[in-house]
Parts: sequence; structure tokens; C-alpha cells
Amino acid sequence: MKALVLSGGAGTRLRPITHTSAKQLVPVANKAVLFYGLESIAAAGITDVGVIVGDTATEIQDAVGDGSKFGLEITYIPQERPLGLAHAVLIARDYLGDDDFVMYLGDNFIVGGIADLVDEFRQDRPDARILLTQVQDPRAFGVAELDGSGQVIGLEEKPEHPKSDLALVGVYLFTPKIHDAVRAITPSWRGELEITHAIQHLIDRRADVRCTVIKGYWKDTGNVGDMLEVNRTVLEDITRRIDGDVDEASQTVGRVVVEEGARVVNSRIVGPAVVGSGTVVQDSYIGPFTSIAENCRIIDSELEFSIVLRDSTIHGVGRIESSLIGRHVEVTPAPSVPSAHHLVLGDHSKVQIHP
Ligand code: G1P
Repeated sequence: MKALVLSGGAGTRLRPITHTSAKQLVPVANKAVLFYGLESIAAAGITDVGVIVGDTATEIQDAVGDGSKFGLEITYIPQERPLGLAHAVLIARDYLGDDDFVMYLGDNFIVGGIADLVDEFRQDRPDARILLTQVQDPRAFGVAELDGSGQVIGLEEKPEHPKSDLALVGVYLFTPKIHDAVRAITPSWRGELEITHAIQHLIDRRADVRCTVIKGYWKDTGNVGDMLEVNRTVLEDITRRIDGDVDEASQTVGRVVVEEGARVVNSRIVGPAVVGSGTVVQDSYIGPFTSIAENCRIIDSELEFSIVLRDSTIHGVGRIESSLIGRHVEVTPAPSVPSAHHLVLGDHSKVQIHP
């Protein structure tokens, strides 16, 4: 069995974070979303992984390398344009050969991994197995319709009037039967070859397409609240580890990770929280469910239930909560006179200020 991991795509939904970086590298608890996916593939006993890459190929390759750090053998497959998930299967035909495979969308996050699913698929080998999960707004997803016995009877891609609240999760298990299906379909209204249509094609031909409904799922819908939630869920499971320097005047309470090369000075950190290497936390309070990435400076500030990406500075601003802060960002106090906000905000930024 092989895996096909999709790491192309533009990432418009998570702007401004994805203006400058691949959406699959957005960190959850200081680790790229894509890495969790690769780790679960390895944990499912799969080693041969084809990674589809697009415009952000260099960045993905720099981060993932040859896959050896995950125990994987990775082959990169360039996709010249984001022409759809079924198109990715089409161009991976030679790589996949006649093996069964799991297709994993690199911007999807599945709590608890996929090992059990892959095991089950190896034993049962239906023509395809899809994963479904209940979502609030199914219109942003592929949506499944089930009959009374839980059989999939129809799939629609981003329907205006969804027939259920069961969205297609970005992990699919396929036998080589999918190859004929991806060749048979035509592009959708958005100009993409949809995997949803390819699976519908299998259903129409009475293939054995089964589904599993899961809980604990996140994708980059652009909703920062959801992202803070997934960060919280992952932090719930961390183990305390202090590898960096914490001075005598500081306190770390509970499940706190301070990476090697990080410094905590005269501060209080209440877990679960992670502090990345090279980061300095000084005269500050870091509250639960906070992830601070590498090489940040948090000085004379308070931070809780938030994500800070690498190389950012927060200095002397009081308390920040429920926030997502990008790379190389500076948050500092305004001078008291004149009383005005000074903003330099990238495209698609969102700021809330006290008027
Ligand atoms: C794709 C699929 C959709 C699925 C989703 C899961 O959507 O087309 O059916 O529900 O992935 O992540 P896209 O990310 O291309 O909008």
C-alpha cells in the first residue's frame, strides 16, 4: 500500500497567513499540519509516499526532505497547476502502479491518526472507503448522502443545498479502480477534476464504496477560531518537557514544553503551552493553550489561548487573547501622544482595536 499526499493548492482561506507560506505548513502546537499527516501515514505502516507539489514545491521540499525523518521514502510529483484532486491521482498513475493507496490532503488534520482505518481497509478491501464528519457549514466541502443503512448513495461537491451535514474528510482509501474513474470525469464549474465526482462515478457503476464517520477533524477553512481549537486539542495531549533555560524567578506550571534554546526570564507559564527554540519570554505571562513558535520575543506582555508563528515580537502590550499572529510580526505599544493607532497590516489581515 502507498500513500499520495497532496501539498499543492493556494491556501486562500487562511490568508493572510498563507500569503507567504504553504497552507500545509501552518503549525498546530508548533508543528506543521502536514507533519501530523505524514506521521500518521508512517504509523499506519506505509513507507512509500508520493507528495504532489505545486507553486510552493520548494518550501514543502525544504520542510519534508526525503522523508527519512518520518521513516518514509518520499517521491515528489509536480502538478503544474491546481487542477483538482482527481487530476493529482491522474498524474500519479505511474507512481501508484497497481497498488492500493491512501490519498491524504496535506491541509487536513485528523485527531487520532489513520492506522485503524488503513488496517481495516487492508482486510476488507472495498473498492473505496471515504471518511465523513459532521460539520456546521457543509457547503464548503464535498457532502455525502447516506441511505437508512448508512450506505453512501450520493456525493456532491460544495453543494448550495447540502443533503446532509456529513462532509468528506480529506483522507480517502482507494484500490486501483479509481484510475478508470478519474479518467472518465470532466472538470467541474471551478475547472477542477473533482475526486468527489470520480467516487460518484464508482457509486454509479455499483462499485463497493464504503464510509466511516469520524470525529476530531480540522481543515483550513480560514476560521481562526477553529484553528485555535485544534491547537488546544493537540496541546491537551502534550507531555511536560523543559529543555530550554528557565531562570529562578520564573514558574512553569503543568504541561509546559520549553524547547532547547528557548529562554524564560522572570515569567510565569501555565500549561498546556509550548515555547519554540530560540524564543525569549521575559517579564511575561503565558496562559493555557498557547503555542509560540521559534525565535520569538515575548516581553512584558500576557498571552493566552493564542498562536504566534516564528520570528515575531510582542513587547509591552498588556494582554492578548484568542489571537493568531503570523511570522515576523511586531506588536508594540503606541506612543501616548498623539492618541492614534499605527497600523501596517498585510492584505487580508484582521485587527480588533478598542475605539
Ligand atoms: C476538497 C474536496 C472536498 C473535501 C475537502 C476536504 O476541497 O474537494 O470534497 O470535503 O477537500 O478537505 P477543497 O480543499 O479543494 O476545497
